[in-house]
Amino acid sequence: MIRMGVIGYGYWGPPVARNFHSLDECELAVISDRRPDALRRAKQAYPSVQVALDPADVMSSPHVDAVAVVTPVWTHYELAKAALANGKHVFVEKPFTSTAAQAKELIDLADRKHLQIMVDHTFLFTGAVKKIRQLIQDGTLGSLYYYDSMRVNLGLFQHDVNVIWDLAPHDLSIIGDLIPDKPEYVTASGQSHLNGLENLAYITIYFENRVIAHVNVNWLSPVKVRTTLIGGEKKMLVWNDLDPDEKIKVYDKGVAITKPEGVYDLLVSYRSGDMWAPRLEQTEALAAEARYFVECVLKNQKPFNDGLAGLRVVEILEAANQSLKDRGRPIEL
Ligand SMILES: NC(=O)c1ccc[n+]([C@@H]2O[C@H](COP(=O)([O-])OP(=O)(O)OC[C@H]3O[C@@H](n4cnc5c(N)ncnc54)[C@H](O)[C@@H]3O)[C@@H](O)[C@H]2O)c1
Repeated sequence: MIRMGVIGYGYWGPPVARNFHSLDECELAVISDRRPDALRRAKQAYPSVQVALDPADVMSSPHVDAVAVVTPVWTHYELAKAALANGKHVFVEKPFTSTAAQAKELIDLADRKHLQIMVDHTFLFTGAVKKIRQLIQDGTLGSLYYYDSMRVNLGLFQHDVNVIWDLAPHDLSIIGDLIPDKPEYVTASGQSHLNGLENLAYITIYFENRVIAHVNVNWLSPVKVRTTLIGGEKKMLVWNDLDPDEKIKVYDKGVAITKPEGVYDLLVSYRSGDMWAPRLEQTEALAAEARYFVECVLKNQKPFNDGLAGLRVVEILEAANQSLKDRGRPIEL
């Protein structure tokens, strides 16, 4: 049994609290938020759970084994550091920290104290990403060529981070999980039109072996789009996360280049075969992730979405931000 404290009960805190609360091997011990109205909502949902205005009460409580940090990104480092320093395991929201240096410090602290860090890269626990991971690992797609994602909608404008820090962590965590090749450099361009923070951006990541990833993020789109194309040597797929029934379609399409003897021009042949939509697991991603966190803590085992996975996302975010400021200059990773 682990006893969980949740810090931050705004938009994402409630589903985090609900999922930890629903687990047999976990007790939701305390919820903390700086805002009294948030604590009133928490008390209504969980009358027997303790609430605290000051997160320090959670950190110092002998009745808490692990802390979920579900507050804005600029607060993650201080709160996670205090939790680790007090001997608590940490489940922290994406993006892990505001800087790579902060992430490294937290990883080091957790290692020294033999504590676990899990970064909430929720998408990695969805049926869609699990299926794509399987299609890559079992060789169905063949060697990867590209990952191309469009994650756009109207709002919600953030006041503390630009659109890269808000929307790109999802794709960067998925890319880090799916693409085994080493990322080499990043370029990014974008523009701010309203509040000084970039509201649209185009990020390109170049990997070894000529794998390339592109992520288009935008808060100023008239329609919501969550579509990713993944191209492999053998097959290609389209993942439309907004499609309720057939989120993933795998196409048996491809191109073969041949250079027959005696012919100087390359011959390009196109293959256009069947399309199929695989069945996906339907469980709530956050439920699977919360269960996995508790399991990792109880077994004293490092999760695959650990602090290092969080650090890799933050490093690319930092590099993309740098490139954006330098009008698309390639930044080495
Ligand atoms: N994994 C996902 O899919 C996903 C989805 C949404 C948000 N998030 C992440 O969750 C985090 C929170 O986002 P949100 O949309 O819930 O924000 P929010 O602003 O709606 O809620 C944050 C809450 O934290 C409280 N808070 C802030 N600083 C605090 C402190 N020092 N101590 C105690 N409480 C404090 C605020 O009062 C607020 O109620 C962000 O890091 C965001 O990126 C992740």
